[in-house]
Order: sequence, then C-alpha cells, then structure tokens
Amino acid sequence: MRLSVIGCGYLGAVHAAAMASIGHEVVGIDVDERKVASLSKGEAPFFEPGLQEILTEGIASGRLSFTTDMSAAQGAKVHFIGVGTPQQPGGYAADLTYVHAAVDGLLPYLSEGDIVAGKSTVPVGTAESLAPRVSDRGATLVWNPEFLREGWAVQDTIDPDRLVAGVPSTDGGPTEEGARTAGVLREVYHPSIAKGTPFIVTDYATAELVKVSANAFLATKISFINAMAEIAEVTGADVTTLADAIGHDARIGRRFLGAGIGFGGGCLPKDIRAFSARAEELGRGESVAFLREIDAINLRRRDRAVDLTVQALGGSVFEKKVTVLGAAFKPHSDDIRDSPALDVAVRLHGLGADVTLTDPAAIENARRIHPQLTYVEDRDEALRDADAVIVVTEWDEYRRDLDPAHAAALTAGHIVVDGRNCLDAAAWRAAGWTYYGMGRP
Ligand code: UGA
Repeated sequence: MRLSVIGCGYLGAVHAAAMASIGHEVVGIDVDERKVASLSKGEAPFFEPGLQEILTEGIASGRLSFTTDMSAAQGAKVHFIGVGTPQQPGGYAADLTYVHAAVDGLLPYLSEGDIVAGKSTVPVGTAESLAPRVSDRGATLVWNPEFLREGWAVQDTIDPDRLVAGVPSTDGGPTEEGARTAGVLREVYHPSIAKGTPFIVTDYATAELVKVSANAFLATKISFINAMAEIAEVTGADVTTLADAIGHDARIGRRFLGAGIGFGGGCLPKDIRAFSARAEELGRGESVAFLREIDAINLRRRDRAVDLTVQALGGSVFEKKVTVLGAAFKPHSDDIRDSPALDVAVRLHGLGADVTLTDPAAIENARRIHPQLTYVEDRDEALRDADAVIVVTEWDEYRRDLDPAHAAALTAGHIVVDGRNCLDAAAWRAAGWTYYGMGRP
C-alpha cells in the first residue's frame, strides 16, 4: 500500500522504515531539511538499534523515500501523523502546534477515501476536534496510538503487543465508515495481525486514552517502587529484594519495578503532566491527582542520588572528581530529553564537583545542551583518578562489563553510587568499593 508519514522523529522515522520493511511503499515527510537529507542517504539521524539496517534496505528497494515536500503525500492511501506533542512552555498541557500544522499542511493533498491516521500522543478529545477538517476533504481520521519503546522501537513497530484503532463511532460501535477504515488499517498491519497481535477497534476517545493511561500506569509503577525505596531507606530494607518478591505475584509482575533515579525521556514525564492538565480541563482533575504525586516521587529520586553522592564524599563534592556513567535517559538510546542521568550530572557540577561524563551513545547530544561538563568517550579514561563513580544509565558497558577490580585500579577513591541498582553490590564491595544503592542498605 502507498503510505505517507508526516514527522520523521523517533516515532515517524521508525514507523516509515518499518512500514517499508513489511512491504509498503512509504514516503516520510518532515520540515527539517537536515533530518530529511540524512534519512534520504539511509543514515539514521539518531541512535536506535536496527533502524540503520531497515533504512538502508528500504531505500535500496526503492520503497522508502524522504522529502520536505508535503505534496509527496498525494496518492498515498493512509497518511500517518507522527509529529511531536511536547510540554507547553510554562504549563503542563501538551503543545499541539505540530499536530495542527501537519494536518493543515496535508489537507490540500488528500483525496476522497484517504485515511489520516494520528499516531502522536494527544490529549483526549483531539481527534474529535480534528475530524471535521479531514472529512471536509472526503477523507477519514483514525487515531492509531503508538506504544514503541525507544531502544526497541523497530521491534515494537513491526511486532507490537497490540494495535489500537480509534475510528468514527456512534454509541453502538463503529460507523460504516469507521468499519471500512479499520479494515484498511488491518491491511496495513496485516503481517503482525496474522501473527496474532490483538487489533482493538474502538472510538476516538478510548484510543487516545489507551495511550495516555498506559504511560500513566507505567510511570505509576516506577514511582510506586521508588516510594518503597524511600521507605526502605529509613528502615534498612532492600527495595530490590522487595521488588523481586512482590514481582513473583503474577498480578504485580517484576517488570518496571526497577527502583533508581526514576523515569525520564520524551514521553512519560510530559505525558503524565499533559494528562493531569487535560483532566483539569474536563473538570476531573481529582481523578488523576495522584499523577502529581507520581511526578514528585520521581523527581525526589534525583535529589536522593545527588545527596547520596555528597554524603559519600564526606558532606561536599566541591572540587571532587566525580565520574558519571551514563547520560541517556535509558540504555540503547541517545535520547537525553528530560534525562534523570544528565540532570544528576548537571546538579553535581552545580555543587562544585569536577564532573566527567561518559556514555556509549549520548555524548554528542549531552554536550550540545550542557557544554560545561567534561565529556570523555572512553569509559576507562573517564574513570581515571575519580574520587567517586555514579552509575545513572544502566548500559551493559557499566552494568555487566565493568569489572569492579579493574575499575578500582583506575580510580583514586572507591566510592560507587548505583543510581540504577544495576550493579552486583557484593562483587563491588568485595573489590574494595563502598557501595551505595537506591533504597538498599
Ligand atoms: C515509554 C513507554 O514505555 C512506551 O510504551 C511508549 O510508547 C513511549 O513511552 C511513548 O509514549 O512514546 P520510553 O520513553 O521509550 O517508552 O521508555 P521506557 O522504557 O518506558 O522508560 C522510561 C523511563 O523509565 C526511563 O528513564 C527508564 O530508565 C525508567 N524506568 C523504567 C525506571 O526507572 N524503572 C523501570 O523499572 C523501568
């Protein structure tokens, strides 16, 4: 099928390449000339495992192209909207400028019967308000939220847990037009549906809410375990053992019970805030008032990591050499948007520490925003002569591959703060380190 994808960021670029990889003919459209030039050469403009391969393959096959020219969308049957919905400056609500611009820019190129499929994360009610503009052109709007995780984006796009389509509906279910558009989306995603991926057809509001409530739930799960870490800290309990134990209950599950410096990135933090803002607008602020607490717990964990480092260094980090392992908001990503890791590094620098930071993928992005820190590519070089080491992104390079005895031979002091509870505490202690975890004795 011929498809267009408007917006070629983390979501759109992966979606375009993944759709080409399952056999569709895809044009990706973005206003950013640099991004389009890089994608057109088959070069991924950001770090995402597996993206490079499917980009190269798609371009070589002739099925995948990129342009800044919106008219290239003409002739596609389904137009995906994958632009960003960042937090508004000075507020909690989502900024929908790019969604409106994408839809308005696309309108002149729509043909009768086309489908516009919104993938961006939007406040509930957005699709309802955009739909008339699309139907005036004889096309249909559907909301088809995306659940990909950075670092696993290619796999999550080709083989998602579930597919959700919000289509024009009445109280009795999808309208005839809604049912037809759901059928077209089924064709788009045929390879994954054929493998058994659930395909849920619903109305606009439910589809929009599925997305924000999924992220709100994940954020809540992380902050729940971090709240337990706070209690563990005053009682001498170990939150990692606690998480293992409660995680054995299938109703709870161990995933996303990783206590540490908390969640960040371009999605969870801004999505829970936008959800709160939207609920307030709807007069239902109290229903999700707990999300404010989830946010507050999350941010407190960054303070905790900084405090632990200060305490470990005898009450001050001033002029102490601190090596920070990690900058990305999570491993397998170069994304530093609202990264707790980078935030902790910047705060330690602000307290007068001589911070050296390393990361396998995110140094360039971090340097652009925070040129005041010292960046070193080589992990061992970064560790040399450090008074303390703090792990803030659980890359395999630190979690699995860094031998504590080897690290001890490089550093001046032997204090390690494990901001992700990802190190083997016993092994580090045995190698002579004073180990500090998050919510661990
Ligand atoms: C998140 C959701 O997981 C995706 O399903 C969703 O599609 C995406 O947002 C989105 O809305 O686009 P992502 O932001 O890529 O995906 O990252 P996650 O894997 O959810 O991690 C988010 C943050 O939580 C990271 O900073 C991570 O380090 C932290 N985290 C995760 C924890 O602190 N503890 C955990 O146990 C798990």
